[in-house]
Amino acid sequence: MQNPAPAETLLTIDAARYLGINPLRHVKPEWRIAVVERAFRPHPENPQADWLPTVIVPALELIVAARGPVKSFASIGVGTGMDILTGIALLGASVVGATDVFSDITVAAEWNIRQNIEGERPVDVHVGCGDLLTPLQGRGLSFDVIYENLPNIPLSDARLLQEKNRSSSFVPPRPEKVPQFARDNMLSLHDVALKQAREFLNADGFVISSIGGRVPLEYLARLATESGLIPGFLNYSWKLQTEGEEVLPFYAELESRGSGPFYYYPVDALEKIFHGVTPKDSGLRAFEIESALLPYRITAAEAWRGYQEGQRIGHTVAVLKSARR
Ligand SMILES: C[S@@+](CC[C@H](N)C(=O)[O-])C[C@H]1O[C@@H](n2cnc3c(N)ncnc32)[C@H](O)[C@@H]1O
Repeated sequence: MQNPAPAETLLTIDAARYLGINPLRHVKPEWRIAVVERAFRPHPENPQADWLPTVIVPALELIVAARGPVKSFASIGVGTGMDILTGIALLGASVVGATDVFSDITVAAEWNIRQNIEGERPVDVHVGCGDLLTPLQGRGLSFDVIYENLPNIPLSDARLLQEKNRSSSFVPPRPEKVPQFARDNMLSLHDVALKQAREFLNADGFVISSIGGRVPLEYLARLATESGLIPGFLNYSWKLQTEGEEVLPFYAELESRGSGPFYYYPVDALEKIFHGVTPKDSGLRAFEIESALLPYRITAAEAWRGYQEGQRIGHTVAVLKSARR
């Protein structure tokens, strides 16, 4: 195993507290996590602001509740590797695969994964650098669950978004033919990933796509059907739009150029409609919840105006399940 790339931050994370799971199995209680500059940054100091504890943990818990332990788990676009550690801890995965386009990220992720596994049971770890699942091709691997939380925003547009952390926002130009609805709604990379991931799924396997859905759920479901997979929603929740001054004008600009529209909601409405909804119900009732939100729906341009007037604005987040059967 290579050492992680230099210039990273080394975080020490109380994993049970961060993930909200106690006890944790198969991984160390305290994780040492190398975060290279380009990686998607975790916020262990504020788990409520973080994707992994708020969106992925409930989704993995629902998977285990429905089908029991999962042997093989992969992540496309692994970032720090904490998603894989969570899969080992929660799903009980003993074969894991991970990729990312940046080699500094995959080197650090592999180090993070191997460092923080604990226990007698061996875990077979495969990490590769390259596009989507390509680095894992030719190794005889297939998976029960494949997770992706890939970026939505094309590189040409990401230049508008003066973001320091490009790994969370850009999609290089793709050679594949992507359906128009996916391009219009910034879903291109999810579309290509699903089509490729299908070939890596076991017979009863599925892909889970975590998508900060500023677009109608029907488009997300269509990503699955157009890839020959069966759509469902594991959970449906919402997030406060942080860094609104950066993100909202960006989506508003995309709208003015014919993409979207991208939908937002006042936080009061999101709190009201999601009140008392459990993660399991949120997935089963995703379309019903979306309909209940309809009267409150505003475009990115409207959201940006409201935000500048001091309104709290949020957007929904969906975990799409795309199953082979
Ligand atoms: C939003 S981060 C997700 C990190 C982690 N999976 C998580 O959920 O916390 C997206 C990751 O996808 C990676 N990525 C972007 N395009 C990719 C591609 N074509 N193939 C593989 N990984 C890609 C980025 O480098 C980044 O690490």
